[in-house]
Amino acid sequence: MKYHITTYGCQMNIHESEKIAGVLKSCGYDEESEEEEADIIVFNTCCIRENAENHAFGNIGALKKLKKSKPSLMIVLGGCMAQEAGKAEYLKRKFPFIDVVFGTHNLNELHSLIEQKRNSKKAVISLREEREAVEDGIVPVRKSYPNAWVNIMYGCNNFCSYCIVPYVRGREKSRSAEDILSEVRSLVREGYKEITLLGQNVNSYAGSGMRFPELLDQVASIGGNFRVSFMTSHPKDFSEELVAVMKKHKKICRRLHLPAQSGSDRILSLMNRRYTREKYLSEIALLKREIPDCEVTTDLIVGFPTETEEEFEETLSLVKEAGFASAFTFVYSPRTGTKAAVMDGQIPEEVSKKRIMRLVECVNDQTRQKSAECVGAETEILVEDFDGKKDCYLGRDLYGRMGYFKSDRDRVGEFVRLKITKANGISLYGEEIKE
Ligand code: SAH
Ligand code: SF4
Ligand code: F3S
Repeated sequence: MKYHITTYGCQMNIHESEKIAGVLKSCGYDEESEEEEADIIVFNTCCIRENAENHAFGNIGALKKLKKSKPSLMIVLGGCMAQEAGKAEYLKRKFPFIDVVFGTHNLNELHSLIEQKRNSKKAVISLREEREAVEDGIVPVRKSYPNAWVNIMYGCNNFCSYCIVPYVRGREKSRSAEDILSEVRSLVREGYKEITLLGQNVNSYAGSGMRFPELLDQVASIGGNFRVSFMTSHPKDFSEELVAVMKKHKKICRRLHLPAQSGSDRILSLMNRRYTREKYLSEIALLKREIPDCEVTTDLIVGFPTETEEEFEETLSLVKEAGFASAFTFVYSPRTGTKAAVMDGQIPEEVSKKRIMRLVECVNDQTRQKSAECVGAETEILVEDFDGKKDCYLGRDLYGRMGYFKSDRDRVGEFVRLKITKANGISLYGEEIKE
C-alpha cells in the first residue's frame, strides 16, 4: 500500500506532514510521488488566508474522477482547515468522496481512523478541541535533510485580531526541554546540519520551567557541526536575553524573523499586536547594536480593516527604516470567527491590490540592493539541494541568503565557502573557495 501527501501552509504543517508520513510508514505504507498511483491520499491543509483554502479545494475537487475509477482509494483530509468551526461538515457536503477528516490535535489517531473507515461506508470525522498530551511519540519521516524541524511548542495564545491560528491550533503547550534536547542530540548524531526550532511564538516557550533564551542556549551548546535557527518570534516577547544568547553562539543563524505586520501604531493596536512601531524599531536597534551583521526578515499585511493610505505608507517606510533583508507580504484576508472579520471598514480588493504591489516593489528593491552589495564578498552556505534547471547546487548562509554554485559531485549536507560573483534578486551566485 502506498501513500501520497499534499501539504499546504507553514513550516509547522510541513513538519506535521513528516509526522503523518511517520504514522503511515509505521502502519506499513510506502511513499508514492504520483497521486494516481497511491492507495491513500492525504491533504494536510492550511486556512490562514482564503486563497490557501481555495487552492486546496481545487486540488481535492480534482480527485473526484480518480476516486470514481478507483473506489478503494482512501482520501484523507487533515490540518488547520479541518479544525475550523463547522468546516468538516461543509467539506463532507462539498466533497462527499472524502473518507477521513482529522484535526490538528489527533494525528496519533490517524491509523485507527483509517482502519475504522475500512469497516464503514460513512466518512470518519474525528476532531478534538486540544491535544491530549504534548508528546505524540511519532517518529517523523524527515524530508528536508540537511535541515530538521523540531517542534518546541504547539498552539498560540495571542489572538491577533486577523488570525485564525489560535482557533485551529489551540492554546500554547510547550514540550519539555529534556525531550527537545534529546531529539536535537539524536538529529545531530544522525548528521542533520541545521536544526530549526518551531513554534507559532517561540519567545513564549515555557517548558520545564525554562524560557526560550535558556532553551536556545542549551540547544546551541550541543556539540557538533550544525546550525540552529528558530521561528517565529513575536516582537512583544523579544528580549535582551535572546539577543545575548544569539551573540554567544556562532551556531545560531544571523537572521531573525520578526513579523512586524504593520508600520502604523493605530493598525497594530487594532491587530492586537501589543507593541508599537517605536518598540519594534528599538528591538531591531538593540539586535543590530549587539550583532551588527544580523539580518531581519518580517511578515507584513496590507489592507487591514480601516487602514488608510497614510497608514499603509507607514508600513512602506518601516521596510526602509527597519532595513528588512526580505519580507513575506500578504493582503489581509477576513477569517470567519476572528475579530477583524467583523470590523467595519473592510478595504476594497482594488485598494489592497494596489498597496500590495507597491509594498512588494519596495521590499524587492531593498532585497535586490542588499544582494548586490554582497558581490565580491565571501560566505558559507549549507548545501540543501540541486537545482536541475540552473544546473547548480544551492543552499543558505547564516544570514538566510540563498547561494548557488556549480559542482561535479553531490554536495547536499556540506558546508561550502563561496566567493559571490553575481546577484540576481534574492539569489546569489558564487564560486567555491577550495581550501
Ligand atoms: N505565528 C506566526 C505566523 C503565523 S501566520 C507569527 O505570529 O508571526 C504567518 C503570517 O500570515 C502572519 O505573520 C501574518 O502576516 C499572515 N496572516 C495571518 N493571518 C492573516 C490574514 N487573516 N490575512 C492575511 N495575512 C495573514
Ligand atoms: Fe496568529 Fe498572532 Fe498567533 Fe502569530 S502570534 S499565530 S499571527 S495569533
Ligand atoms: Fe500554519 Fe496555515 Fe495552520 S499557516 S498553523 S498551516 S492555518
